[in-house]
Amino acid sequence: MKSSEIREKFLKFFESKGHTIVASSPVVPGDDPTLLFTNAGMNQFKDVFLGFDKRPYTRATSSQKCIRAGGKHNDLENVGYTARHHTFFEMLGNFSFGDYFKEDAISFAWELLTEVFKLPKEKLWVTVYAEDDEAYEIWNKKVGVPAERIVRIGDNKGARYASDNFWMMGDTGPCGPCTEIFYDHGPEIPGGPPGSPDEDGDRYIEIWNNVFMQFNRDEAGVMHKLPKPSVDTGMGLERITAVLQHVHSNYEIDTFVNLLAAAKKVVDGAGAGDCDQDSPSLKVIADHIRACTFTVVDGVIPSNAGRGYVLRRIARRAIRHGYKLGARKPFFHALVPALVKEMGEAYPELRQNEQRATEVLKQEEEAFFRTIANGMEILEKALSGGAKQVDGETAFKLHDTYGFPVDLTADVCRERGVTVDEAGFNALLDEQRQRAREAGKFKMAQGLEYSGSPTTFHGYDKLIHETAKVTAIYVEGTKVDEARSGDDAVIVLDHTPFYAESGGQVGDTGELRNAAARFIVEDTIKIQADVFGHHGSIAEGSIKVGDTIIAKVDAEKRARTMRNHSATHLLHKALREVLGAHVQQKGSLVNAERTRFDFAHNGPMTAEQIRKVEAIVNAEILANQATQARVMGIDDAQKSGAMMLFGEKYGDEVRVLDIGSSRELCGGTHVARTGDIGLFKIVAESGVAAGVRRVEAITGDNALAYLQSLETTVSQAAGALKASPSELNARIGGVLEQVRALEKELATVKGKLASAQGDELLAQAVDVKGIKVLAATLEGADAKTLRDTMDKLKDKLKSAAIVLAAVDGGKVQLAAGVTADNTGKVKAGELVNFVAQQVGGKGGGKPDMAMAGGTDPSGLPKALQGVGAWVAERL
Ligand code: ALA
Repeated sequence: MKSSEIREKFLKFFESKGHTIVASSPVVPGDDPTLLFTNAGMNQFKDVFLGFDKRPYTRATSSQKCIRAGGKHNDLENVGYTARHHTFFEMLGNFSFGDYFKEDAISFAWELLTEVFKLPKEKLWVTVYAEDDEAYEIWNKKVGVPAERIVRIGDNKGARYASDNFWMMGDTGPCGPCTEIFYDHGPEIPGGPPGSPDEDGDRYIEIWNNVFMQFNRDEAGVMHKLPKPSVDTGMGLERITAVLQHVHSNYEIDTFVNLLAAAKKVVDGAGAGDCDQDSPSLKVIADHIRACTFTVVDGVIPSNAGRGYVLRRIARRAIRHGYKLGARKPFFHALVPALVKEMGEAYPELRQNEQRATEVLKQEEEAFFRTIANGMEILEKALSGGAKQVDGETAFKLHDTYGFPVDLTADVCRERGVTVDEAGFNALLDEQRQRAREAGKFKMAQGLEYSGSPTTFHGYDKLIHETAKVTAIYVEGTKVDEARSGDDAVIVLDHTPFYAESGGQVGDTGELRNAAARFIVEDTIKIQADVFGHHGSIAEGSIKVGDTIIAKVDAEKRARTMRNHSATHLLHKALREVLGAHVQQKGSLVNAERTRFDFAHNGPMTAEQIRKVEAIVNAEILANQATQARVMGIDDAQKSGAMMLFGEKYGDEVRVLDIGSSRELCGGTHVARTGDIGLFKIVAESGVAAGVRRVEAITGDNALAYLQSLETTVSQAAGALKASPSELNARIGGVLEQVRALEKELATVKGKLASAQGDELLAQAVDVKGIKVLAATLEGADAKTLRDTMDKLKDKLKSAAIVLAAVDGGKVQLAAGVTADNTGKVKAGELVNFVAQQVGGKGGGKPDMAMAGGTDPSGLPKALQGVGAWVAERL
C-alpha cells in the first residue's frame, strides 16, 4: 500500500465514524506564541479543547504537517541515525471535542489497525499511564490484549506527570494521560519492549499515541480540568507506512526511497562522484529537505533568531552532511522539485511555492558554501606546511570567526591523515563560553579590519539619526560591499545614535532602515576606539556600502538601561556612605533588566545595611535633581573630586557626570533627572571572590513588576493557608507549631508501640548456657526507641545478651546490649558488629551497649538467627 493510500484510508475510516476531515494547518502556528512550530495534529484545535473556540463538529480527523526540531519536542539530533526520527513528518489523527472518550478512542484505533490495515494482533503492544486503570481494563477486558503485552508507565521523567504516557503540547496548554500502541518489528532487530532498559532500540516502535485530554497546564505548572474530557491522537504516517510496506526503517518507505535516490543524484553531481547509498548523511539530507521546504513554503526565511534560526540550523546541517559526502557546490535546493513530485499532490502549497522555496534555499546554501570556501582557504594554509596536527587555536578561529564548523575541520583533516587538537579546541571553546556567559551573550566583533572614517556618536541626546551613511559591512567576518536578506552582518555608520558597549553598559539595540531594507540591530560593539559596529541581521531587502539609512535605537530598552546605569552611580555613592570609603568598584554590568555591581568589601552586607542603601538611593531619586555632564581636562576632573576607578586608563579629556550627589567619570548614557529612575530595589547580594561582593538591583518598571510578582507569591501563600497576607507570619508560626506537636506525639506513639512490642519480645528470649539471648526486629522503631526498648529488656531479662534491629526502606538500624554480669565474656560492640557485617555495615560502642547501621536488609534474618550460637561460643 502506498503512503498516499494509507493517508487516504485513515481519513476515510474516521469519516465513516462521523469525523469531519480537516485540512492540515501550516507548520508555523497561527497566533500561538508558546509554539515554535506545529508539533502535533491537535495544535490547530488547542482552543477547541480549552473551550475557547467552537466548531460545527465535535469529531475531526486530519493529516497534519509537523516539525519537531526545537522547543519541547525536538528530534533533530536523532535524525539519520535511528530508523524512525524526523524533523518533518505527517501526523494522522482523530479528535473528539467532548464527544467520545477512552472506550471509543481505543476501539476505533484497534479496529483500524487490525481490521482495515489487517495488522497481526500478536505484534501489537500497548502502554497505559500507570494510574489509568480504566484504559488498562478497556485494553485487557474489552479489546482482549493479554496482560503481558500491556505495560503500565508511570512518572518516569523525574516529576509529577512527567511521563512517556502523559502527553503535553508544550510547557503550557492542553494535556493528559495517554495510551500508546507499539508494533514489534521482530526479534532480528535489536531493542526491548516499552518500559524495558532497551526500549530505545528499533524493534518495538510506537506507531500511535491516543491522548485523553483532561487538563490545561498553566505557567505555574498547575493542572486545571478541561471543560470536557476529550481525545487527541497522533500516528506518524511514516511509521505506519513502514509497517504496512513490510520494511523496518522509515527510510525504506516509498516516499523516502525516491527522495534518497534524488539526494544521491544531486550530491554525486555536486562533486561526490558515487557516494554510499546507505550513508546516514543521505538520510539526513532526505529528511531535512522536507523540513526546510515546508518551513519556507509556510513563510519562514533563514535568519538568526527564532524560527528562522531553526530553519538555518537544519539547512546547514543538511549541507554539511552533503559536504561530508563530497559535495563541493550547492546541491540541497536542487532537491525541492523531487520533493514536490513526491508530496505536491497531498500538499498543493508545495506546487504553488516550488520556485520560491528553491530560491530561498539556494541563497542560504550559497552563503554557507562561501563560508565553507573561506574556511577551507585558511585550513589549507594551516595544512600546507606538512603539519601532522591542526592546532586548537586554528580550529577555534575557524569555528568562531568564520563559522566553519569544527566537525568539518575534523572531516577534512581525517581525509588527509592529519589530526585536530580537540582538547585545545575544547579548552578555547570553554573559555569563550565562560566569557559569553559573563557578557550574557555571544559576540564576534574583534578582528574586523577597518580603515574608513570614524563614527560620530549622537546618542546622548538623540535616539534617531535620519541620515547615517554605511561606511563598511562585514558578513561572516569578511568585508563585503553588500549584505542581503537573511545575512548576519556587522554594519559601520559614519553617524549613529547607538551606544556601543563600554564602561559596563551594554550596546544598544534597534533598527537601521530605508525604503528598500530593514536591518535588526541586536547589539552595538566598537570595532576600534571610534568605530561603531552594529551587529544583527537583515530582515528585508539588502544594504550596500554608501547607502543612506535611518538609524533608530529601541527607545524603551535604552530607557531601562539608562535608569539602571544612573542608579548604579547612586548605588556606588550610597555603598561608600553606608559601608565605608574602602568600597571600590571592581566591575559592573548594566543592561535593560538590571545593574550588577561588584565592589571591594569584606563579608556580606546585613539586611539593615541593604535597606539603608536602598533608602539613600530612593531619597536621591525623589529629590529629582537634573543630571549634568561636562567634558573637561583630566586634571580639572580630578580637582572636582569626581570618582575615578583605580587602574583605569583615561584620555586627556574626560566626561564628568553629576547625578544627584554623585560625581563620577563616565561615558555612558543617563537619565535627565534622578526622578526618571522611578523606584530602586536591591534584589540580590552575594560574594563573588575573596573580598569582593556583588549587589544586583532593578529600577523603574522592572522594580514594579518585581514587587507585583512578590505580592502574587504572598497572596498565593496566604490563600493556601486561608489567611490574609498580614496574618501570614502568625499562621505559618501556628502551622509549624502544630507540626512540631504532631512530631512529638508521633514519637510518643512510636515509643509506646515499641515498648508494647518489647513486652511481646520477652517471650522470644531463649536460654543459652544460663543467660537469656534475644535477637529480634522491632517494626517502625527509630534509634532512640531501639535504645529505650533495649534498656527495658535488659531490666526485665536481668542477665542477657540482646540484639534489636529496625528496617526502614533500604537501611538497617541495630542495637546490641549486654547486661553488666556478662560483659566480661560477651561484648556488645563485637556483637553488634557480628550482625552489622552481614547487613553491609559496621558499628561499635561500649561493652554493654552498642549501635550500628547497615544497608542490606536481606542479610538480616540469617544474621539474627546466628546470634544464639555466637553468644554460646563465648560463654
Ligand atoms: N498529540 C499527541 C502526540 O503528538 C497525539 O503524540
